[in-house]
Amino acid sequence: MAAMLEDLRIQRAATSRRAEVDPSRLGFGDHFADHMFSLRYRDGSWGQPEIVPLAPVPLHPGCLALHYGQSVFEGLKAFRGTDGKVRVFRPDRNAERLRESCRRLCIPALPDGVFEAAVEEIVRVDHEWIPTGRGEALYVRPLVFAEDAHLQVRPSSQFRLLIFTSPVTNYYDRAAGAVSLKAQSRFTRAAPGGVGFAKTGGNYAAALFPATESIAEGFDQALWLDGAEHRYVEEVGQMNIFFDFDGRVATPDLRGTILPGVTRDSVLTLLRDRGTAVEERRIGIDEVLERSRDGTLREAFGAGTAAVITPIGRIGFEGKMYDINGGSAGPLGHELYDSLIGIQLGEREDRHGWNRVIVPEKVPAQAAD
Ligand code: COI
Repeated sequence: MAAMLEDLRIQRAATSRRAEVDPSRLGFGDHFADHMFSLRYRDGSWGQPEIVPLAPVPLHPGCLALHYGQSVFEGLKAFRGTDGKVRVFRPDRNAERLRESCRRLCIPALPDGVFEAAVEEIVRVDHEWIPTGRGEALYVRPLVFAEDAHLQVRPSSQFRLLIFTSPVTNYYDRAAGAVSLKAQSRFTRAAPGGVGFAKTGGNYAAALFPATESIAEGFDQALWLDGAEHRYVEEVGQMNIFFDFDGRVATPDLRGTILPGVTRDSVLTLLRDRGTAVEERRIGIDEVLERSRDGTLREAFGAGTAAVITPIGRIGFEGKMYDINGGSAGPLGHELYDSLIGIQLGEREDRHGWNRVIVPEKVPAQAAD
């Protein structure tokens, strides 16, 4: 057991639901593993950690998280390597981002090391749920939410951290080819000074209406532009965005309105490793569209934990459609996907020490309560 959680109590599920899942039809977020990690914040401190069978959690109807959205979450993945080892990808980065999200949402920080240790423990307990297909993983979803029952708009005094897992395949079906995005000139995801950089449910709730409208118009998703002028590209909501402009790869810089993606950071590092010039900067939608017309936009792709590397083949803006790489996936995105997955599966050298190898727990054949 990780040293940070010496007093962790584990109550095992009497039986596993794993046999109910068809491994050839995983999807994303359709299935949940057997257990959840739980930790409560009461009277100014985080209490007794436990792992219990995954179950609905009772909530008071006045629960502040439900009304005023005081909650944050994370997303990371555990892999079963080609060598059989279990690896979690860059949990330290998710811990750091969770800390920033918590700060912005007035949620008390977890003590140092607790997040990583908790992720390690839940993966150890549910490691048999890690799928083995290429592109598949055990997605780990940490969530912290306000629990006070109150109607005043004020920070809660009680919180709960839950971490549960879900065997998944890529968020976007790679077999379906490159995705199409509608660049939003009307709706806004985030504004300077807002919560765009935080992983909080409100950002996703606010995106539902524009995304639904974009999908109804035949797109796969919305592409967010800056909130002030609707001139600069920001992100896709489930992923950060990259453009290959004639061999120089650009992605929007972090200025508080986009999510600082762990995959975004990994892609920037992999690009630098291969000697590609990278730019983190403001990218005008005009530049993207102009360069799609003149052919100097070679390809575009999204990067995210759930989405991994997803090719972008079309962008719609103000009633016009713009093709990128003839509407298809490009070679750079393919190469980065293979590199990333290769590192995560232990097939390629982990030069930057991104993987945390976990020794799985031997699960008793028939566990008792
Ligand atoms: C992730 O990539 O982990 C995300 O959180 C995206 C999403 C499924 C909301």
